Amino acid sequence: LGTSRRVTRSAGRVRMAASVDELKKVVGYKSVDDYVTSGMVVGLGTGSTAYFAVERLGEKLKSGELKDIVAIPTSIRTKEQAEGLGIPLVTLDTHPVLDVAIDGADEYDDDLNLVKGRGGALLREKMVEVQAKKFIVIVDDSKKVPGLGVSGAMPVEVTPFCWEYTLNKLKGAASVAGCDAKLRMEGDEPYVTDNDNYIVDLYFEEPIKDANAAAKEILEMVGVVEHGLFLDMTTAVIVAGKEGVEVIE
Ligand code: 5RP
Repeated sequence: LGTSRRVTRSAGRVRMAASVDELKKVVGYKSVDDYVTSGMVVGLGTGSTAYFAVERLGEKLKSGELKDIVAIPTSIRTKEQAEGLGIPLVTLDTHPVLDVAIDGADEYDDDLNLVKGRGGALLREKMVEVQAKKFIVIVDDSKKVPGLGVSGAMPVEVTPFCWEYTLNKLKGAASVAGCDAKLRMEGDEPYVTDNDNYIVDLYFEEPIKDANAAAKEILEMVGVVEHGLFLDMTTAVIVAGKEGVEVIE
């Protein structure tokens, strides 16, 4: 590990033959069991792993094991799931400080920095998760990378207005030199985020050399709304693999 981190291992409920979905459920449930207590303001992430954390929260509120929780969803999908489970929802407008936020990630590195947003929810995720006292990331062990940007796209949310101009600016940025940039599509149409924006996915052959420099340069571009580099935000990563569960802090 890059810095000295505390790693707690447990066999948990993971079976050797566990499927990826079962691993996601283990970390989703554990995040709520270990980090959510009654009275908290909780950020609810987006994606197939965060789904299980939301499910567990709903279950514990229904059984009465947790009380007086309010939650802030990071996407319309998660909002609908939470509403269906009867989880009371609020917004950052009334609750700008969260006790904890729980979300999945597309990549995490040794420093617990992340790439997020392949599911398209990066803007709301970042807005909510930077406001949390604790940000708990839940993943299966396929998300571990030797350097950010190697396993797939690094998404950037951009305005639909002159998106092609912004895409070309991104391609030409010194901090991500050599990357390929593609507008995310859904069938024949551009993919549209919950905020009515588009996403440009950046692809790298090598890990991003200086993620802090890339984050800064990209965010300074007019036309960019937000990017999927989540740096220095993570409190702990809960990771499940066939051998068991690790909590890395
Ligand atoms: C959505 C995200 C998700 O957290 C990320 O894509 C991981 O999703 P999953 O748990 O389905 O692998 O950033 O914008």
